[in-house]
Amino acid sequence: MTTVLKLGGSVVTAKDEPETVDREALADAADAVADADDELIVVHGGGSFGHPHAAAHAVSDTEGTHDATGVREIHDAMGELNSAVVEALQDRGVSALPVRPLSVASRDDDGTTTFPGEPIATMLGEGFVPVTHGDVVAQAGAGATILSGDEIVTRLARQLDANRVGVCSTVPGVLDDDGRVIDRISDFETVASALGDSEATDVTGGMAGKVRALLELGTPASVFGPTELGAFLSGDRPGTLVHREQ
Ligand code: IPE
Repeated sequence: MTTVLKLGGSVVTAKDEPETVDREALADAADAVADADDELIVVHGGGSFGHPHAAAHAVSDTEGTHDATGVREIHDAMGELNSAVVEALQDRGVSALPVRPLSVASRDDDGTTTFPGEPIATMLGEGFVPVTHGDVVAQAGAGATILSGDEIVTRLARQLDANRVGVCSTVPGVLDDDGRVIDRISDFETVASALGDSEATDVTGGMAGKVRALLELGTPASVFGPTELGAFLSGDRPGTLVHREQ
């Protein structure tokens, strides 16, 4: 069983304090990962590490920069968070290793991402747990742009033929108009009004973009909150299951 797990940036960082790890939340997440039996790939977001630096340099998933100093600043901040995540996992006996997207991933001029799966597959084969993250990556014609953790999740899940995907964020699932967790989503149209903007370009933050990408993926994906991480990793389907009808 191969599982790709996204830990949202807002789960592992203190959202309103720049470059601050939420130590307690990270410890809880690392405990849950340490107890997991599946072959795992961990992808974390930027939270208060990546996003403020990206904003300071006006870099997004569509707006690029050629300023190498700025690119390095964003990448270094993400590296710091990545080290904290890897360290928390290693402290609990997980064979976690960092995988830094800037060095391996890129985008062509229409935004299509290349993220080689081989190094990750080899790590998995050797019993390691790759820990990668949203990052700034080179994009043809744009300099460097932000590659979100969410996009890495769908890319790697497809390439590595993952059996399941988990997206752990600060909300308990995908919410309907009344704020209740939707149990299952199998097509976009039935939830479009609750999710608001359905633009496919909405990949870095919005739930609509997340749901669309997860439906296209075809792998069963669960969207849930931090308290359900252990349940997800032990095989349950907490929160919202996003999976199109076969
Ligand atoms: C963003 O990744 C990475 C950077 C800003 C460099 P994500 O878009 O996956 O981050 P979160 O989960 O929303 O914080």
